[in-house]
Amino acid sequence: MAHTSLKFAVLAGDYIGPEVMTQALRVLEHAAKQENLTLDYKAADVGGAGIDNHGKALPDSTLKICEQSDAILFGSVGGPKWEKLPPKEQPERAALLPLRKHFTLFANIRPGLLYPELSGASPLKSERIPNGIDIVCIRELTGGLYFGLPKETTTLANGDIQSVDTMVYRKSEIERILDTAIAAAKSRKNKLCSVDKANVLETSVLWRKTATEYVAKHAPEIQLSHMYVDNAAMQLVRDPNQFDVFVTENMFGDILSDEMAVICGSLGMLSSASLGASKNSRGLPFGLFEPAGGTAPDIAGKGIANPCAQILSVALMLRYSFGLEKPAARIEAAVKKAVTGGTRTGDIAFGGASVGTQAMTDAIIANL
Ligand code: NAD
Ligand code: IPM
Ligand code: MN
Repeated sequence: MAHTSLKFAVLAGDYIGPEVMTQALRVLEHAAKQENLTLDYKAADVGGAGIDNHGKALPDSTLKICEQSDAILFGSVGGPKWEKLPPKEQPERAALLPLRKHFTLFANIRPGLLYPELSGASPLKSERIPNGIDIVCIRELTGGLYFGLPKETTTLANGDIQSVDTMVYRKSEIERILDTAIAAAKSRKNKLCSVDKANVLETSVLWRKTATEYVAKHAPEIQLSHMYVDNAAMQLVRDPNQFDVFVTENMFGDILSDEMAVICGSLGMLSSASLGASKNSRGLPFGLFEPAGGTAPDIAGKGIANPCAQILSVALMLRYSFGLEKPAARIEAAVKKAVTGGTRTGDIAFGGASVGTQAMTDAIIANL
């Protein structure tokens, strides 16, 4: 078998970030041995760890390691320890967003998967989701309110204080995220729902028009629907499986994906791939792979965080940035087997017995 070496950066970040990253790397080491892959990764500080050890959230040395890699495996950053810093210097705005922008990671794919056996962990009544949930959120990640300029706070002549964020989208940005959404829809049921607020927002009017024209022209086989974001938030809870793939702008996707995560059991289960516009040295998309949730300061240090989102993010990295479907599917199957077999961290145990981060991982490795 050909020997493949995987070159990636490991940025664990803060609070539960390093706890779940350690476990994800254990799973990856194990899968790599089975598949005859060599891991060539470099770990670096990011977020609060970057601030504490290098004076800034995204140290130059860390960015350099990322630039020399084919992918980034990311934990999560931020938390109370750095919340008193000026907002622009805090880990989220000074590390994660710049990384997304620097590598033009515009396509964020978040798989909303609830195994039927786990339906008790969902806040939805089990009869609404007899077969679990299987949907995909495609979130635009480098546009909209997060990055639009101006973005500032000023004191007005009358002494009042005014802050402004700018929501801006270009047609070309909408078209490229539609490409991602179309590819996802084609690999599933040829169904796509575009979520916007076209009854109010100018950017959403452009979004809806672009989606309508672009899908008609490039993927007429896809059944495209449109939904306002407030209705989408409601429909997700009412009947999540009416969606198959949905695509939306940056902030709507941020909010809807946390909602999707919890109806799928827990934020601790939601992995994500943020794919870039450029190709890595393998001719595949450069990407950043991270749990959709944050640093969970409330449970950090206790050894109880759910490592599944981080482990499933490893699987997404293997699939998208390394083209290694077999070990990716294998890791996903091992997570499913461990969890449905009854080994569960507290967030998905729904009152039953629970295990810690390490024992959860042990069970996953045993099922690999
Ligand atoms: P959070 O996602 O960290 O936590 C929300 C809730 O979900 C908490 O109760 C937490 O315990 C739980 N949770 C999250 N991940 C879990 C896991 N793996 N296992 C078990 N439970 C889990 O959101 P928050 O509390 O709003 O934010 C905390 C910090 O994380 C903030 O500084 C925020 O900005 C940051 N954050 C970072 C990222 C990232 O780096 N990608 C993402 C989201 C939030
Ligand atoms: C996410 C997070 C980030 C976002 C924050 C930490 C900047 O919530 O990845 O969903 O809002 O995109
Ligand atoms: Mn979020």
